[in-house]
Amino acid sequence: MASVTYDRASRIYTPGARPAINQLHLEIEDGEFLVLVGPSGCGKSTALRMLAGLEEINEGRILIGGEDVSHVSPKDRDIAMVFQNYALYPHMSVAENMGFALKIAGVAKEERNERVRKAAEILDLVPYLERKPKALSGGQRQRVAMGRAIVRSPKVFLMDEPLSNLDAKLRVQTRTQIAALTRELQTTTVYVTHDQVEAMTMGDRVCVLKDGVLQQVDTPRNLYDNPANVFVAGFIGSPAMSLFKVARDGQDIIVGNDRITIPDNALQKTEADEVILGVRPEDMSLSTDGTGLPMVVDVVEELGADAYIYGSPEGINTFQPLIVRVEGRRPPAKGETVHIKPAAEYVHLFDVNTGLRLNGEIPENTPEAQLADVEALADAEE
Ligand SMILES: Nc1ncnc2c1ncn2[C@@H]1O[C@H](COP(=O)(O)OP(=O)(O)O)[C@@H](O)[C@H]1O
Ligand SMILES: [Mg+2]
Repeated sequence: MASVTYDRASRIYTPGARPAINQLHLEIEDGEFLVLVGPSGCGKSTALRMLAGLEEINEGRILIGGEDVSHVSPKDRDIAMVFQNYALYPHMSVAENMGFALKIAGVAKEERNERVRKAAEILDLVPYLERKPKALSGGQRQRVAMGRAIVRSPKVFLMDEPLSNLDAKLRVQTRTQIAALTRELQTTTVYVTHDQVEAMTMGDRVCVLKDGVLQQVDTPRNLYDNPANVFVAGFIGSPAMSLFKVARDGQDIIVGNDRITIPDNALQKTEADEVILGVRPEDMSLSTDGTGLPMVVDVVEELGADAYIYGSPEGINTFQPLIVRVEGRRPPAKGETVHIKPAAEYVHLFDVNTGLRLNGEIPENTPEAQLADVEALADAEE
């Protein structure tokens, strides 16, 4: 068991080009389940491989259990990695696959068998110990890959999209099992996924990355309720938060023929005469008296209990269609004009120039905060 620290660590594959990981500063607690999430190519695997020692660190440091491991070889870092493709040895049985790392490490046969047996019990693999990987289902292979990591009792588990080869239903079951298992073992885990639902359901905290830069690291609840910037707001949540520009007038925003006063002088932080308004589908309702923002319904998605309506509000520049959750039994029809009203207490406002959050609780780990840190550091070095 150990904490993990990325101390302004960067990975620059091509000198002069944008770093794949840019001054990542992240402290992961002992026993924590931390998820790294972001779109494809944002640097998740690179960040994990830096921690594993498989990728050089060009700036900064990485610490495991308080010890600087930046120059420690992968085999001496006491970590175990679970990959997307499982990387099982096809000619070995399940038991041999699970015990192989222990054998290499010179652990005696009896202890090896005992540890493999224990892991197999935890993972429901006892009946399959003598089988070869090809005689297993995808889910069972995934569990063998987990078992291989568990038998080593490492300080940290590193998992790179370990569920992406499973079908949707199995993925949902397995994510619950993995989260429960690592919590039971109290082993610090860094888990990579591009799937924000997986991130939100599994992580104690979730770290959102974009273009190699940390956007926000927070609990799932806070990411959802207080996204630090427009990117996090649009990335976390399904269906997505609607984001569109609205006019501001002093401390008010103008939404169609409605006016919402924003508390705490939050709008003082910007001089622009527009702000980006973000509203989650469940935080908008349809008005019956013609107030609010007129919108023509383009698509109605019926889900039984609820329905989602998608549309483009009149005269407003949206990033994506606007999405409103409505009662499932009586959704409006396609082509109909409705009037929508955001719930004033749940609106998210972002600076039109920087994309940073303006109202409510402002999370600490914004790129701006990181930038300020970086500048402070540069000043201190001068
Ligand atoms: N070995 C490499 N050499 C050069 N560029 C690389 C290498 N590996 C990854 N990259 C680049 O670094 C960025 C981050 O990649 P990666 O960490 O694999 O992202 P993710 O896992 O989030 O999809 C991408 O732009 C990718 O093309
Ligand atoms: Mg990857």
